[in-house]
Amino acid sequence: MVTSQMTDRRNGLIINVGSIAAITPSPLLPVYTGAKAFIRSWSQALGSGLADKGVVVVCLDVYFVLSNMFKRHNASYMVPTADAYVKHVLKRIGLTEGASVPYANSPYLPHAALIWAVEHLVPSKWMLDHGYLFLLSHHRGMQISALKERLAKRAKEAAAQRAE
Ligand SMILES: NC(=O)c1ccc[n+]([C@@H]2O[C@H](COP(=O)([O-])OP(=O)(O)OC[C@H]3O[C@@H](n4cnc5c(N)ncnc54)[C@H](OP(=O)(O)O)[C@@H]3O)[C@@H](O)[C@H]2O)c1
Repeated sequence: MVTSQMTDRRNGLIINVGSIAAITPSPLLPVYTGAKAFIRSWSQALGSGLADKGVVVVCLDVYFVLSNMFKRHNASYMVPTADAYVKHVLKRIGLTEGASVPYANSPYLPHAALIWAVEHLVPSKWMLDHGYLFLLSHHRGMQISALKERLAKRAKEAAAQRAE
């Protein structure tokens, strides 16, 4: 329905929000990981099908970004604020730098560098034997610490409410 309007006017942009979970699975989120793998693959199929009809499709390979879903105290180079991330995306959308496969891209360059290193720089045998296991355990640790921070904040808020 949406794409037919775009193909009629031979102009359109579809941004699907994917995740690095499609490349290195998130250990505690198997359904999320599977859905993100679907979105990446689907974007590639959709993008190639619409390429000659004037419609650009891109799946964002997002690493961590501060948001309601992923909360931490401070932003960093690898974990930008949502505002900083969106600014980068809007500046670079449509460019192929940061792309690891057609129609999937990481316009935020620190994330692109990480994905490129995982996919191209590190020898695939080493990634298979050690690298993916390291990333799985690293991501698991990040999720657990984010969850603990969120639970601690909720407990603090509940205590403050009880004290009122
Ligand atoms: N943050 C990260 O580190 C990270 C990493 C990789 C990928 N991503 C992806 O980035 C996207 C945005 O996530 P976020 O991190 O920005 O999280 P977020 O701050 O929690 O934003 C999620 C958004 O989805 C909306 N939403 C949730 N359930 C919905 C539903 N059933 N129907 C319609 N809208 C719904 C929420 O609306 P309300 O505000 O109205 O509830 C909110 O605007 C997601 O696709 C996520 O997978 C995020």
